[in-house]
Amino acid sequence: MVKCIGVLTSGGDAPGMNAAVRAVARTCLNKGIKVYGVKLGYKGLHSGDFIEFDRNSTRNIINVGGTFLKSARFPEFKDPAVRQEAIEQMKTVGMEALVVIGGDGSYNGALKLTEMGINCIGIPGTIDNDIPDTDFTIGFDTALNTIVDALDKLRDTSSSHQRCTILEVMGRYCGDLAVHAGLACGAEMIITSESGFNEDEVVETLKKSKASGKEHALVVITEHITDVNELAKKVEAATGFESRGNVLGHMQRGGSPTARDRVLASRMGVKAVELLEEGKGGLCVSDVKGEIVGLPIQEVLGHKRVINNGIYEDVLKLR
Ligand code: ADP
Ligand code: F6P
Repeated sequence: MVKCIGVLTSGGDAPGMNAAVRAVARTCLNKGIKVYGVKLGYKGLHSGDFIEFDRNSTRNIINVGGTFLKSARFPEFKDPAVRQEAIEQMKTVGMEALVVIGGDGSYNGALKLTEMGINCIGIPGTIDNDIPDTDFTIGFDTALNTIVDALDKLRDTSSSHQRCTILEVMGRYCGDLAVHAGLACGAEMIITSESGFNEDEVVETLKKSKASGKEHALVVITEHITDVNELAKKVEAATGFESRGNVLGHMQRGGSPTARDRVLASRMGVKAVELLEEGKGGLCVSDVKGEIVGLPIQEVLGHKRVINNGIYEDVLKLR
């Protein structure tokens, strides 16, 4: 029976991470398990930057964005010798197991630690929704609502000036933020790495929109596809739409988490501790059709995320 657990947040931060830490801490304390917060992700695990939690430690954070434990990228953790040093730090306080809240990189670290004898459970904390086998990741819904707010505002000014506005959103290589936001805001076009990008096609579609009498247009595009300011210049030259490029940037990672993210984070935190209590490790917590389940990290990271819930088809039906 596990007696002492650590919890850390790692990689890009996401709104709702604090709610997940709170849930891990409370579940542990309610079960009589000692629980430590680890500052700065794997970096703090390696340097022994631990805080023992009591019931007061996670008060007033369920509604707060960012991560109060702080996050860090620590590539050195890929080195087995560095991981062994982290394990030695854990031993100094009797920490036997770990909950890792982060993205796929953080999951890799959790898997490697489990293989070295420390049971770890991953919780998907990333706005990108790019983790396979979970319908949603913590932070996605909040970032989505931030983008929707931005797009609604851009619609106002695009309409006033009869412009085409192209908005680049985050997602790394996953188009979920662009697709959901584009659908919610009636975008003229949604461009993602899944949909592919053909500049001529974009120009042709917008030309047709202009010819059909549309006075303004919104285009949402996932990052890492093209330079939106250059694309706006090309659209302007070819279509007659005066055009502007916008990059929304890191504001998508901040803000108070939505109710949906708080609920997801809270449920996932509870599940992670239950799995450790059952003696399990090398698993991640996933939301599968509303049920919170534990799945092997190795299998989850072993394949690409598949989105076949029909959302892409619905987008096309509404063009
Ligand atoms: P995310 O978790 O958001 O995908 P990163 O890819 O930056 O973010 O990973 C977060 C951290 O996880 C890294 O800085 C590193 O400490 C750890 N990590 C990533 N990949 C590995 C790996 N292959 N082995 C061990 N640790 C890793
Ligand atoms: O993983 C989340 C994410 O926000 C990606 O969408 C983006 O590409 C990346 O992090 C940016 O990370 P940073 O600027 O913090 O390195």
